[in-house]
Amino acid sequence: MAILETNNLRKQYILGAHAVDALAGVDFVVQKGEFVAIMGPSGSGKSTLLHLLGGLDKPSDGEVTLAGQALSMMDDNEVTLVRRHHIGFVFQFFNLLPTLNTEENIALPLIIDGKKLRDYNDRITALLELVGLSDRRYHKPDQLSGGEQQRVAIARALVTEPAMVLADEPTGNLDSKTGAVIMDLLRTSCDEMDQTVIVVTHDARAASYADRTVFLRDGCVVREIVCADIIDPHQRLSLIMEAVESLQI
Ligand SMILES: Nc1ncnc2c1ncn2[C@@H]1O[C@H](COP(=O)(O)OP(=O)(O)OP(=O)(O)O)[C@@H](O)[C@H]1O
Ligand SMILES: [Mg+2]
Repeated sequence: MAILETNNLRKQYILGAHAVDALAGVDFVVQKGEFVAIMGPSGSGKSTLLHLLGGLDKPSDGEVTLAGQALSMMDDNEVTLVRRHHIGFVFQFFNLLPTLNTEENIALPLIIDGKKLRDYNDRITALLELVGLSDRRYHKPDQLSGGEQQRVAIARALVTEPAMVLADEPTGNLDSKTGAVIMDLLRTSCDEMDQTVIVVTHDARAASYADRTVFLRDGCVVREIVCADIIDPHQRLSLIMEAVESLQI
């Protein structure tokens, strides 16, 4: 079943006399439970696509359909609620609130939704265990390493048990070992919670965790590599590396 679909998705930014076609007609379908990576050169439209998929921004033309519902048919409030209840976001710069401790940062999407932290103790305990931060529950972000902060951000993205997780370069500021931990976490939540995961990345190694990698160039999808049936991680990586080299990303 398709959880997400775009039709002829376009985004044009106008700056003075200049128009930039950040997305120039993207048709993209993601199945429920699929793990998709998006790669492409800097400026190819990856973040723009992720923002449109998550209803953080509106297309200039075309449509995003989420679980059968066209985002353009909803008003801003409805889009906000869909986003809050069904989508978890992870950004490159963890976006944690400095005054909140780990459990409060994780619970933030629930608190924003008017829920009480104490009613979700068990869920937060389980998430802390999942991301390996049970002993950092009361630490503030500045008392955590970059990798730990990113794991908090992932737990926060999962706390509403969203159908879909959208991550923009979640390993961009981490060393390769910590990056692998983060990708493992996303892979696990996809496999065990039937979550749909879409990750923008510059890193072929990160993309090799995905079932499918979509390559963007100049706002268009130019290639797709399906890895779902390839078990050998080296083979997955070399297929993606080949595409990266041939597309000169
Ligand atoms: N708010 C904006 N106003 C004007 N132009 C923008 C805006 N946001 C993005 N762009 C332009 O749209 C194009 C696509 O940007 P986008 O951020 O989606 O690229 P990207 O693939 O995520 O790049 P990177 O890998 O560097 O993060 C770029 O040429 C960028 O300069
Ligand atoms: Mg980007």
